[in-house]
Amino acid sequence: MTNSRPAAVIVLAAGEGTRMKSDLPKVLHTIGGRSLLGHAIAAARAVDPLRLAVVVRHDRDRVAAHVVECDPTCVIADQDDIKGTGRAVECGLEALDALDETDSGEPELAGTIVVTYGDVPLLAGDTLHALVRTHEQGAYAVTVVTAYLPDPTGYGRVIRDSDGQVARIVEQKDASEAERAITEINSGIYAFDSTVLRGALRQLTSDNSQGERYITDVLGIARTAGGSVGAFVLDDVWQCEGVNDKVQLARLGAELNRRTVEAVMRGGAIVIDPATTWIDADVSVGTDTVIHPNSQLLGATTVGSRASIGPDSTLRDMEVGDEAQLLRTHAELSVVGPGAVVGPWVHLRPGSDVGADAQVGSFSELRNAETAAGAVVPPLSVLGSTPTGTVVRATGDAVPGPGSPS
Ligand code: UD1
Ligand code: MG
Repeated sequence: MTNSRPAAVIVLAAGEGTRMKSDLPKVLHTIGGRSLLGHAIAAARAVDPLRLAVVVRHDRDRVAAHVVECDPTCVIADQDDIKGTGRAVECGLEALDALDETDSGEPELAGTIVVTYGDVPLLAGDTLHALVRTHEQGAYAVTVVTAYLPDPTGYGRVIRDSDGQVARIVEQKDASEAERAITEINSGIYAFDSTVLRGALRQLTSDNSQGERYITDVLGIARTAGGSVGAFVLDDVWQCEGVNDKVQLARLGAELNRRTVEAVMRGGAIVIDPATTWIDADVSVGTDTVIHPNSQLLGATTVGSRASIGPDSTLRDMEVGDEAQLLRTHAELSVVGPGAVVGPWVHLRPGSDVGADAQVGSFSELRNAETAAGAVVPPLSVLGSTPTGTVVRATGDAVPGPGSPS
């Protein structure tokens, strides 16, 4: 019987990411409203592992704090001075074993161990599921996710034997010219049998051009020990692309957005111009809602059905009811009731609540303000709490705005 619930996922996030040229640790940069690491943790969670560890080192405290924010049940594993992906996995495993240590000191964590990267944001949970299934059904010692790239420069290459089985992986820097011509690359995502992994980690050396302990050497070691290595070939190569610099950040951000906008349309919403519409990963939009050009739906925004958003609107962490209309509106952390009409040129600051069927006229600003159902806020109104905290409510049919006749 195959057990498709892995014992653990170990997410590697200890690297420095110097090419990002940023004060912010690389894995904390965001696309689609979530950090790169947040995407990696979400994919890992999707396979429901018994344990989830994130290996940290560079800017350790900030990254660790962020991990706890994303998922407080994650185990933080610290990598020491010894470099390399192999050492990172070893540190992850040691931290997990420390949790599970029995009286005899024997580690309990056994089964399938999945390794992923914290800087590969498009990897889908479904892919990890399929990897684990392939790994367990094939009874492999190791299964590696590979992909064929037209330009494999920089990646480790997959060396197959004459039977087409994966024999080992060679890093670009250690590869011969013939090996460099191979276009099948190592994505860096694997499923390991825990016993094989433990045994092989003990045998890793730093005997390579980078002087690092490579996790990739585990494949060759497993083969030598008589195990077989499986390959899970990924057709959707975006899923194994990592972010190394800000160009890749934008490239993967745009692709993620394309996927999210497509999912929103498949869910029944109408997007007039997908190219200028930005929707974060956690947003939900109801059926037959129309999103007009140049609009951004961000954060935890939810929009009901048959609503109309935009053009030129930015909604962050908003709750918008059915059939509401928001024209040229900038709005955050507020509620717009069903059937309300807001804009054009309206700013809803945090804490505002526009009642059902209410109207908020052009050039108005609400800050922490509530309008009753059906209320009409005339153009050029400013409603809301004063610096001393007094809340102004619009309750009648009309509330005088600045400059309106008394
Ligand atoms: C690695 C693989 C390579 C593969 C490529 C895919 C090895 C030896 N090579 O190469 O075969 O094609 O990924 O992207 O594994 N990390 C740590 N601790 C470390 C070193 C790295 O946590 O000591 C983390 C990094 O944060 C990063 C990931 O591991 O998320 C990959 O590290 P990186 O240095 O980018 O590996 P590559 O040289 O690209
Ligand atoms: Mg890399």
